[in-house]
Amino acid sequence: MARIVILYESANGFTRQCVERLAREMNHTECLTVDLQTQTPELRPDDVLVVGSSVRRGKLLKNTEAFLKQMEGKSAYPIGIFLCCGFTDRFPEYCERLIPKAIRSRAFCVINFGGTLNPAGKPFWDKLWLWRARSQVVESEIEDGEFTPVLPGMIPENIGQMATFAKRELLARLDAK
Ligand SMILES: Cc1cc2nc3c(=O)[nH]c(=O)nc-3n(C[C@H](O)[C@H](O)[C@H](O)COP(=O)(O)O)c2cc1C
Repeated sequence: MARIVILYESANGFTRQCVERLAREMNHTECLTVDLQTQTPELRPDDVLVVGSSVRRGKLLKNTEAFLKQMEGKSAYPIGIFLCCGFTDRFPEYCERLIPKAIRSRAFCVINFGGTLNPAGKPFWDKLWLWRARSQVVESEIEDGEFTPVLPGMIPENIGQMATFAKRELLARLDAK
């Protein structure tokens, strides 16, 4: 039976929350989530894949990067890509640099699920990074003449869009049988 398989990696849990929401949006569709940090995927030929991770220091998390590399030549799998990043405006640049072109050009969806710059509850060094990143966002907003800093968060409509596209791919697979 064809399924949607969501493969993801999360350093501090934000991406996991996005994936949990995505899985809920699949409703009654057959859907499996695989945490690439701890699990090894066992894919079936009929699977529809949704793959993503957070961006840290300008990079994907390493198991996601390796998985995408592995998938470069496996064009039989329909694939959707998402990223979670704190700097929303850098999303296009991250896509271009971090997602192999062969995958980007055939993906049924490449989208930003949002990100957080909230340091609460994070490990010490991550807190420092996040405080600095937050102050950059605030400064750039002031430069733009805005005085209310817009901090990032989850983008539920983009998660919904990924769910819609992935379900459409799955239906196409089932119809083709
Ligand atoms: C150490 C560190 C480095 C980060 N580097 C980047 C970065 O280079 N670009 C960016 O847009 N966001 C960056 N972020 C923000 C994360 O992408 C954001 O917090 C995301 O929601 C984290 O998701 P996760 O908890 O699933 O890892 C960084 C966050 C931390 C803690």
